[in-house]
Amino acid sequence: MNSYGHFDDASREYVITRPDTPWPWINYMGTGDFFSLISNTAGGYCFCRDAKFRRILRYRYNGVPMDAGGRYFYIKDGDTLWNPGWKPCRTPLDFYECRHGMGYTRICGEKDGLRAESLFFVPLEHRCEVHRVKLSNRSDHPKTVRLYAFVEWCLWNASTDMENFQRNLSTGEVEVQPDAIYHKTEYRERRNHYAFYGANRHFDGFDTDRETFLGMYNGFDAPVQALAGTSGNSVAHGWSPVAAERFDLELAPGATEELIFVLGYVENPADAKFSAPGVINKTAAREMLEAYSTGVRVDAAFAALRAYWDDLLGRFTVASDVPELDRTVNVWNQYQCMITFFMSRSASYFESGIGRGMGFRDSNQDLAGIVHMIPDRARQRILDIAATQFPDGGCYHQYQPLTKRGNNDIGGGFGDDPLWLIFGTVAYLKETGDFSILDEPVPFDNVPGSEVSLLEHLKISFRRVATGLGPHGLPLIGRADWNDCLNLNCFSLDPDESFQTTENVAGGQAESLMIAGLFVAEGKDFAELLERLGDADASSVRSAVCAMEDSVKKHGWDGEWFLRAYDFHGGKIGSRECDESKIFIESQGWCAMARIGAGEGLCDKALDSAVKHLECEHGLVLNAPAFSSYLYQYGEISSYPQGYKENGGIFCHNNPWVIIAEAMAGHVEDAWRHYTKITPAFGRQSHDLRKVEPYVFCQMVAGAEAARPGEGKNSWLTGTAAWTWKCVSEFILGVKPQYDGLLIEPCIPLKYGTYRIHRRFRDAEYDISVRCTDGGPGKVFIPYSPGGHVLEVTV
Ligand code: BGC
Ligand code: NOJ
Repeated sequence: MNSYGHFDDASREYVITRPDTPWPWINYMGTGDFFSLISNTAGGYCFCRDAKFRRILRYRYNGVPMDAGGRYFYIKDGDTLWNPGWKPCRTPLDFYECRHGMGYTRICGEKDGLRAESLFFVPLEHRCEVHRVKLSNRSDHPKTVRLYAFVEWCLWNASTDMENFQRNLSTGEVEVQPDAIYHKTEYRERRNHYAFYGANRHFDGFDTDRETFLGMYNGFDAPVQALAGTSGNSVAHGWSPVAAERFDLELAPGATEELIFVLGYVENPADAKFSAPGVINKTAAREMLEAYSTGVRVDAAFAALRAYWDDLLGRFTVASDVPELDRTVNVWNQYQCMITFFMSRSASYFESGIGRGMGFRDSNQDLAGIVHMIPDRARQRILDIAATQFPDGGCYHQYQPLTKRGNNDIGGGFGDDPLWLIFGTVAYLKETGDFSILDEPVPFDNVPGSEVSLLEHLKISFRRVATGLGPHGLPLIGRADWNDCLNLNCFSLDPDESFQTTENVAGGQAESLMIAGLFVAEGKDFAELLERLGDADASSVRSAVCAMEDSVKKHGWDGEWFLRAYDFHGGKIGSRECDESKIFIESQGWCAMARIGAGEGLCDKALDSAVKHLECEHGLVLNAPAFSSYLYQYGEISSYPQGYKENGGIFCHNNPWVIIAEAMAGHVEDAWRHYTKITPAFGRQSHDLRKVEPYVFCQMVAGAEAARPGEGKNSWLTGTAAWTWKCVSEFILGVKPQYDGLLIEPCIPLKYGTYRIHRRFRDAEYDISVRCTDGGPGKVFIPYSPGGHVLEVTV
């Protein structure tokens, strides 16, 4: 079994010890609106605000070899050309280490007595990446070294950058100064933004024309200029602009040279675009370069970034006897929640940054992972999302972060979407106690003048689902529910149409038990909220919830588990009567979390059935047995080979639904077992099998019916982050935010049941020592009051 790295808990870093990981293992940088993806070999790209429309570096998703494009340092030492991150030259290194930390990455390489330590981060204050490189001569002889710093520009729109070559190859423009290269394609016309790559000293040579630097037929691994130790001093006119900056360094034995680079993005006001005809106004860039021009300044900015993360991650910490649990809770799960919140599902090594904006349901669920850390931003996000709703409660499925406008190209009409607004808002209210958000005026479809209160939006959301019922009194699924691939009204036979956007057959009456469970769970929460507000609608919400529970018991119970859906023609999906996919996870999770029929034992039975039919070595699969052929009446779900994605994959997002339901049912051992199976820190899969990063959750791990069960895919941006956070913080460790305080109600095996929690809640700090006893599981309510509290809780 190969190991590619390990956790360093004290530094909150993952340490990668060899560069040829089974798949690029990446990190994210950025906290505001400038974001970067950086792999363990310094591959990746950055963008401002919108990964599609404001892409700064070019990246080749389908490139070979994998992970082509990044910020590359080339070092020419004697006859050897190498990179501290190994790629792209792949010259064997004497030492390599990559440390992915909270919002920064360090990559260190050593070759022939020359050590290159690089630090990459996005500072809090500016829209830029800071790169600091320290070269140390550890040999006993002087070295004459050439260092090249290289990036390739994207022509801003990441989509057309890959398509419209007849135009693109003529538009590229740059400006060169002695210490900085400016990328200004399309700045002459409608763009008011440019990028630059500058250094804290003058170059000894440069190139901005890619082919001059690389050579016409060379790849990034063999740039002719760097191989020769020269520069062409080329100025790009069209073709592919790059920044390749050369520095000639003399290093005595023991000497160190430090260079600092800023890869920045600037927007200028329309009336201050130019400093002379055709010359960009560089004032803001010069300020940025100045801000990071010395090691002391970089140290200070880096310390501020570390303090930012210390503060956020200091709000909820656990000290238990399970190191895997502690590092997940204290570091990586919360970090992944933040990244997922920033990025939604837009930009990862599995999401090209051009296909998707912010999802209505996704972004609402993401709130549950971050509201305790950045409540103000959660508040704004809720208002932004709600503003993309229509007066009838329907909503755009996605909106573009740049414009905050709904994106019609992605489709709409997903039956579950409106309910997630209640989910997100309730999470915010319980965490913050800030009821004023409910009075905020929020427009429909961003149309000024159409504003109603956020509370009204919630009511409309609820009503939309409550009144959109099918023949069994269950919610209509529409285009799909949470499972985007269960397309029951679609009937697509054309391989060139998208399951997500194709016109559905009119009058489709397919119904969803997943939405039914969601409706009951969120309906109960909503009724509780309305009762607190003294709102008369509470009782109608309660009765709609009761009616739904009755419909589920009457038409949604299959004998041993909850059905999944009724199809277009009223046929059952997820029933023992079906040939395939007899049972699905989503309805077991949601109906059991909603406690539908709990008194009659339905939840216990459903959960036992999930264990019996869905559990495998690596987690709970989504459906079993998986569909073995394409069934056009079910849609995309049956398009996937068995064991992958929504067709029998372990969709990690919905495993916590079952775990939470197990916890609610008091099934301690089941909850813990499921949790440790999907949580990567427990190391259930070898690195070679899992392939993707061992420090973050995946959207999907290949299921039992797949060719390689346990193989991970779609790491980083997934609702799994927020749901596993909710699951571990509220249900396993049992710290549940309530309107008036914290309810401590753990569900953890007794042998791990003694631990300490630090929890900031509103403006109070709680230090709680929890001790579970075999008399449990029990619960203790801690009323909220400001100040510091040290408590012992025995449950
Ligand atoms: C994927 C889903 C995703 C959907 C929308 C499908 O191809 O399988 O997981 O939700 O696309 O992007
Ligand atoms: C990923 C999508 O982002 C999410 O919205 C959806 O619920 C899941 N896939 C399941 O299909």
